[in-house]
Amino acid sequence: MIQLQFLGFVLAGVSHAQTGVTTPVSQACGSSVVCINHYANVLPYHFKRNVSTMDDVSTFGDISVTNSTVLNDVNSADFLVFDKERGLEVLGANPSYTFMFAVSEAVHEAPVYVASQNKLYLSQLAPPAGYLPQLVVDLNKDPPTLSEYLSDPPVYAPNGGTLHNGKIIWGASGGNRSIGGGEQRVSLRTLDPETNKSVNLINNYFGYYFNTIDDLAVHPKTGDIWFTDPQYSWFNALTDTPPQLPSASYRYNASSGAVFVVDDSIGQPNGIAFNPAGSTVYITDTAAVSAPVDPQYGHPGSTFNATQRRTVYAFDVSQDGTSAYNKRPIYMASGFVPDGLKVAANGYIVAGVGQGVDVLDPSGQLLLTIQTNYTVQNFAWTGPELKTLWLMGNGGISKVEWELVGQELR
Ligand SMILES: *[C@@H]1O[C@H](CO)[C@@H](O)[C@H](O)[C@H]1NC(C)=O
Ligand SMILES: *[C@@H]1O[C@H](CO)[C@@H](O)[C@H](O)[C@H]1NC(C)=O
Ligand SMILES: *[C@@H]1O[C@H](CO)[C@@H](O)[C@H](O)[C@H]1NC(C)=O
Ligand SMILES: *[C@@H]1O[C@H](CO)[C@@H](O)[C@H](O)[C@H]1NC(C)=O
Ligand SMILES: *[C@@H]1O[C@H](CO)[C@@H](O)[C@H](O)[C@H]1NC(C)=O
Ligand SMILES: *[C@@H]1O[C@H](CO)[C@@H](O)[C@H](O)[C@H]1NC(C)=O
Ligand SMILES: *[C@@H]1O[C@H](CO)[C@@H](O)[C@H](O)[C@H]1NC(C)=O
Repeated sequence: MIQLQFLGFVLAGVSHAQTGVTTPVSQACGSSVVCINHYANVLPYHFKRNVSTMDDVSTFGDISVTNSTVLNDVNSADFLVFDKERGLEVLGANPSYTFMFAVSEAVHEAPVYVASQNKLYLSQLAPPAGYLPQLVVDLNKDPPTLSEYLSDPPVYAPNGGTLHNGKIIWGASGGNRSIGGGEQRVSLRTLDPETNKSVNLINNYFGYYFNTIDDLAVHPKTGDIWFTDPQYSWFNALTDTPPQLPSASYRYNASSGAVFVVDDSIGQPNGIAFNPAGSTVYITDTAAVSAPVDPQYGHPGSTFNATQRRTVYAFDVSQDGTSAYNKRPIYMASGFVPDGLKVAANGYIVAGVGQGVDVLDPSGQLLLTIQTNYTVQNFAWTGPELKTLWLMGNGGISKVEWELVGQELR
């Protein structure tokens, strides 16, 4: 009682003027480039940012500030720069963002640039149920063309991909007893882009179906294929069997055939990528997008829960390339989950996060954001210098020209 009276006394003499407001919060920094000062640390009251839903993903520019125009220029910019020095360096003198193709609302994933053909392969998942072809962007054409592509035999629902020794490696995320005239299970496959022939590498864990095989990366020194196995294929009706294994990330040694769990602590392991030296592996946790695995709920789809994890983790990779340790969170995406993840040649981390792509330094500091008007699942570098980034997701494929060079796939 005495304390309360004391507090009331103190408050009565206090001014409510705001202190420390970041001024200006944002400012033009080039054509369609907006710089955010000091990470907008102190916003004027009253401000509010809505929590995302699957259908309405919130962006930084969606923050509303009462009676103020401070963030009015933000949503229409293609690029938001948070670290002026390094962010503008990544963009270079003439950055551009171009919306290239309107595509279906289905997930578009697993982009693989085949430099020898100058073509970009990517996938389109269901719906429609049982959709079998992949898509190819032919970059030899001006303007580039988009067409369907069917391998022999067809590969159902690749959700991750890379190129290794001249072949595409798909993480095929679908399982069905009668797809394209036969059975397919969640698996790693190779695809030779010269012959169009696909071959299974591994389709089971000691007889159990993998859950989803979502994304994968080849370790630059050992050549092992590291892949994530979350549970989305059941949620999204891409497989006809409920999960038989926990969410986990694996390392696959194609020469011995042995498969090793490298992490089973991440809720929904998703994007995975190595730094150029192969000494760090990054894995995203998209647990904020989830659903019940219990078969009684059928294929429930998935929903976004703002209080669940949406984090990029870094692990050290042991010298011999066999294990990942020293797990630490380095970045928590703000509006949505970090889905596809890749590392640039200079070590910067790039992650698809809802309505755009975030670029981080290796410590997880946000340098800039590419803004899109559709949810981005993944992206890949293309072109002779690997300075063009193609992005794809629900409803769109777009491209960015900038100075951030991708790692060459080998
Ligand atoms: C935030 O949510 C409110 C209430 O649902 C809605 O009226 C408003 O338009 C939303 N703001 C944005 C930027 O989406
Ligand atoms: C916002 O503007 C309206 C109309 O001018 C005014 O009545 C209100 O007090 C203002 N609110 C704030 C928080 O400044
Ligand atoms: C592979 O598929 C592409 C696209 O459908 C086609 O143009 C090409 O001729 C095929 N190659 C072979 C060797 O069949
Ligand atoms: C299996 O594939 C068939 C089409 O071949 C499709 O009608 C059915 O919905 C699929 N089932 C699942 C669970 O994916
Ligand atoms: C992969 O397996 C081969 C054959 O057993 C072995 O020689 C090689 O050391 C293994 N690679 C790693 C990274 O353990
Ligand atoms: C979101 O997750 C929190 C923490 O686990 C839980 O309490 C809450 O019920 C979840 N919300 C929804 C809408 O599922
Ligand atoms: C995104 O922008 C492009 C080009 O500006 C437009 O064609 C497309 O319809 C837009 N998509 C959505 C979902 O608004």
